[in-house]
Amino acid sequence: RTPSPRLLAGGAPLPKPYTVPLPLPAVAKPHRTDTTTDYYELVQRTAEVEILPGLRTPIWGYDGQFPGPTIRARSGRRTVVRVTNSLGAPTVTHLHGGHTPPESDGYPTDLVQPGTHRDYVFPLEQRAATLWYHDHRMDFTGPQVWRGLAGFFLVGDDEEEALPLPSGERDVPLLICDRSFQADGTMPYPARHDGPGAREAFMGGVLGDVILVNGAPWPQLGVDRARYRLRLLNGSNARTYELALSPGGALTRIGSDGGLLAAPQTVDRVRLAPGERADVIADFAAYRLGDHIELRNLLGEGPQARVMRFTVERDARDDSAIPKTLSRIEPLDPATAAVTRDFEFTSGDMHGHTGWLINGKPFDARRVDARPKLGQVEIWRLTSDVAHPVHLHLAPFQVLSAGGERPSGPLEWKDTVELREAQTVEIITRFTGYRGRYVLHCHNLEHEDMAMMSTFEVV
Ligand code: C2O
Ligand code: CU
Repeated sequence: RTPSPRLLAGGAPLPKPYTVPLPLPAVAKPHRTDTTTDYYELVQRTAEVEILPGLRTPIWGYDGQFPGPTIRARSGRRTVVRVTNSLGAPTVTHLHGGHTPPESDGYPTDLVQPGTHRDYVFPLEQRAATLWYHDHRMDFTGPQVWRGLAGFFLVGDDEEEALPLPSGERDVPLLICDRSFQADGTMPYPARHDGPGAREAFMGGVLGDVILVNGAPWPQLGVDRARYRLRLLNGSNARTYELALSPGGALTRIGSDGGLLAAPQTVDRVRLAPGERADVIADFAAYRLGDHIELRNLLGEGPQARVMRFTVERDARDDSAIPKTLSRIEPLDPATAAVTRDFEFTSGDMHGHTGWLINGKPFDARRVDARPKLGQVEIWRLTSDVAHPVHLHLAPFQVLSAGGERPSGPLEWKDTVELREAQTVEIITRFTGYRGRYVLHCHNLEHEDMAMMSTFEVV
């Protein structure tokens, strides 16, 4: 129960845990729709929202909301999102997990200047999955996401809809992130160079004291005695979570970054590095009416160990089920790989001070580091000295090995993978769909801003 030192320093009055109801982000409505395409508009603007009781917190939000509105899109339907920048700084929007043409992928220097807009075109020729959109401006992704520029983008398809999974109110997106607050309610973001030790502190990434779910501190949700699908998204800048129910209850993992797994997997915890997602089924029928069930973070202490709480409020009918097989996923065969490439993630000198590098180099938009051929299968070997969540744009991948071991779970598609300390992870992917420039980068947003990003060009 002891607040962390930074919290005491910040001094904002915190709510008692589990007193704030879980907010659900508004679902965006297309402003126009035709036979092939749904058109959305989001306006990036500042707003003041109540996150801590009685205090106004200034944010930067899509439509002034944090998280931004949820876009519920359909596989195979073109989705065009016009993003208007009404902020005082340039932005870039990236659809994380999107199979997107390069001009709409949010390459980190494709800036949308204040007072202008850009139409991001998402063909969505991809399977159902829990995606998210967020800011991607080079050097400023960390602060701009911290201030609120992130939201859910859920893709649905027929394969998923045919399954008896929990849906409607029992399909709950949960964006989990950490923030710190000052006594006036503001969420300070540390300056990169201020004071002795600041750069070192910044090197690890920016952590917050308070865990927010959908923008609320330690919220609570009343649930039926029934199965729920929880779409867990780690939207934190730098914090990794291991999420578990307490008192202990089984979670069934059904989905990953790239949609449904081949088969369900019963787990007692879900580990999520920044950028990763997991869709899980929590079965509240295993509890009694009136029970309180905490979603806890096993990697946190005190306030950072609490995430949210469910209270079983009603007996209710449940027609959902967890099918034995979920999705057809073909394993990519390493024997078909045309190339193996190595990417080493280290710290090192970046223009005269310490930064984060890939293969010894900081990001440079004028340089292309790899040129995979369209349609080609490749193995990418990622090696790190310290932990990095690595995200690949455009091409979902399968993990072949991590730390020398084959993954033990069901086959799944990923777009972000955690490299543990001193580990090598081998991923296999096929570059399909579009030629052009994309990036591979660390999803610790401070590492990303400190240049741990590499451009590849599909040719
Ligand atoms: Cu979620 Cu390149 O980012
Ligand atoms: Cu990193």
